[in-house]
Amino acid sequence: MKLEQLTIINFKNFDSFELKPAPKFNCFTGPNGIGKTNLLDAIYYLSFAKSFLQSADKLHIKHGEDYFALNGKFTRKEEIEEIACSVKKSQKKVFKRNGKEYDRLSDHIGLIPLVYTAPFDISMVIGGSDTRRRFIDTVISQFDKDYLRKIIKYQRALDQRNQVLKSFSANKHNDEAALEIWDMQLAKTGNEIFEIRNQFANEITPIFNEYYKRISGNRDDVKLIYVSQIFKNSLENLLKNSRQKDILFQYTTSGIHKDDLEFMLDEYLIRKTGSQGQQKTFVLALKLAQFDYIKQKTGLKPILLLDDIFDKLDSFRINTLIEIVSDNNFGQIFLTDTNYERTLKLVDKISEDSKLVCLEN
Ligand SMILES: Nc1ncnc2c1ncn2[C@@H]1O[C@H](COP(=O)(O)OP(=O)(O)OP(=O)(O)O)[C@@H](O)[C@H]1O
Ligand SMILES: [Mg+2]
Repeated sequence: MKLEQLTIINFKNFDSFELKPAPKFNCFTGPNGIGKTNLLDAIYYLSFAKSFLQSADKLHIKHGEDYFALNGKFTRKEEIEEIACSVKKSQKKVFKRNGKEYDRLSDHIGLIPLVYTAPFDISMVIGGSDTRRRFIDTVISQFDKDYLRKIIKYQRALDQRNQVLKSFSANKHNDEAALEIWDMQLAKTGNEIFEIRNQFANEITPIFNEYYKRISGNRDDVKLIYVSQIFKNSLENLLKNSRQKDILFQYTTSGIHKDDLEFMLDEYLIRKTGSQGQQKTFVLALKLAQFDYIKQKTGLKPILLLDDIFDKLDSFRINTLIEIVSDNNFGQIFLTDTNYERTLKLVDKISEDSKLVCLEN
């Protein structure tokens, strides 16, 4: 995957910006608040049809303007793909591939494989289980369209079941038969999602272990564990067994929406015992594993966005990380750093296929 040209209009703090990226490293430096992360977000938008901040589209329109437009020309398997996204205030987002608007935005996911990592990814370690489920879902959706549909279907059935549960208390009558249809749907889709997630966890674990070992210089003993209620019992049974509890709580307490990934360091949860650098290493190893995994599944090297990744890492870990991503296994990379000198050295060292863009007001 390669981004050949990027055009930005009225996107966050940029009024207009154009870039012809280099094939390997593209480094953005500049002071805090200059727009380095915003540039990465623009590239992310073209891949995921939304911001990595998960915020509403119109918040990304430059203050005082009434629309933003992004355009990216990519090479994918030797073919040019032109992706355009525009958002006008109080209008539906327009998202096009080669001039043709998509019927469903979800159809676009996976066309431009991309892996992004930023300081706030640490929330994958210290935050709630939803961030880790989102990680699993984002990775798998990039090569398995059917999976994304299953997730959407499961979520709809879950919402419906929860509404039915709420209606029991409003109507002061428990019509349990009304739950059956949703139980059946949840069990079917839930089991399928569980199988796919389990396979994903089994496949990504060895890749993750290898990266963690390399970046840390083999210093820590870490583990990644997929946790799901469905390992213990079928979802049909779980839903049946928890029905009275669900009626009481007015929501569904069993299912794959409770899945989690446990991140361990020496048999303890890394979120409780790991240092900040160890936690960060964990996330980075996971993101690199995500890269390899998507590459294996799609035969494409995803675009890699590395936002401010050096913070909290010791010099050994920084150097190893750079060595890893400089390798031919990786493709085009966009990296941000406030430290111009460090980035300059990096670009010098890597190759002539690299570009350093120093952002100024
Ligand atoms: N809708 C918007 N309109 C105008 N400016 C915006 C908008 N949204 C965000 N900004 C501005 O973008 C800037 C933040 O840019 P960004 O996060 O890319 O900075 P950065 O260069 O990555 O900084 P850091 O080094 O601190 O990470 C802020 O100054 C913010 O005010
Ligand atoms: Mg930033």
